[in-house]
Amino acid sequence: MTSIKSLVNMKGRNAIVTGAAGHLGKVISETLAELGANLILIDRENSSLEKLSLDLKNYNVKIHYFQSNLESSSERKELILYLNKFTNINVLVNNAAFVGTAELEGWAVSFLEQTVETWRRAVEVNLTSIFELTQGISTLMQGSQGANIINIASIYGQYAPKWALYEGTNMSNPAAYATSKAGLIQYSRWLATTLAPKVRVNCVSPGGIFRNQPDSFVTKYIENTPLNRMATEKDFKGVIAFLASDLSEYVTGQNISVDGGWGIW
Ligand SMILES: NC(=O)c1ccc[n+]([C@@H]2O[C@H](COP(=O)([O-])OP(=O)(O)OC[C@H]3O[C@@H](n4cnc5c(N)ncnc54)[C@H](O)[C@@H]3O)[C@@H](O)[C@H]2O)c1
Repeated sequence: MTSIKSLVNMKGRNAIVTGAAGHLGKVISETLAELGANLILIDRENSSLEKLSLDLKNYNVKIHYFQSNLESSSERKELILYLNKFTNINVLVNNAAFVGTAELEGWAVSFLEQTVETWRRAVEVNLTSIFELTQGISTLMQGSQGANIINIASIYGQYAPKWALYEGTNMSNPAAYATSKAGLIQYSRWLATTLAPKVRVNCVSPGGIFRNQPDSFVTKYIENTPLNRMATEKDFKGVIAFLASDLSEYVTGQNISVDGGWGIW
């Protein structure tokens, strides 16, 4: 009989995490290391990749890291050359995203003030870079055991914003973010049939993660969430362990919402 323990064991597998130095990226990386996977951590220059690799040392897995700005076509090409030097790539988690800031011009502003320039930057990171990266390592992944890709999308790629949540805050929900995440969910399905049966492709759509957002936003957000709270990073450990390992070896083309039930109303 196949044990759950053997299905979840990722010893000897190589897993890439993009945006590894970010809030969710760290937890995804830690989860994969806990299961025994060697890590290839990717993030921008000056991100805390070196610190993260030291923090994960106790898991006794091999840890590589590579700085790459996924918004840059030439840096993506260098990254793909680097990744193709590995003998196997079993897991790719596309977690990095253009999430913008309140201060960024043309982003967290009204529809009429959102700019094409900022839209293009978001689409470049949230869609184009994922297309190019998955294409660039797909041949290598097709020859690797238990190979699978996990794309991190968002509930805002599935559902329209409830604007009342944002009233009186400097937060927003830009068209480019929502639209690029919706595209990523569909790209995951497209890729799942294209790379089957050798590589599985799935998507995770997080609900809002608590990061000290204004009280008025949190209160209204929670009222719309059956589980009565915002997400925390550790809420994603289970879904990553499930999708990345052989626990889900008959699961492909799915989008799993980890949203406290936000989408069921
Ligand atoms: N925070 C939330 O509430 C929430 C909700 C739904 C979905 N998500 C998704 O979860 C994922 C992780 O988000 P997070 O909240 O941890 O964000 P975060 O900002 O903490 O982390 C994102 C990471 O991606 C990296 N990154 C961004 N642009 C990059 C680029 N051009 N090249 C290389 N690396 C780049 C950043 O440096 C950062 O380390 C994202 O895909 C995000 O869209 C987050």
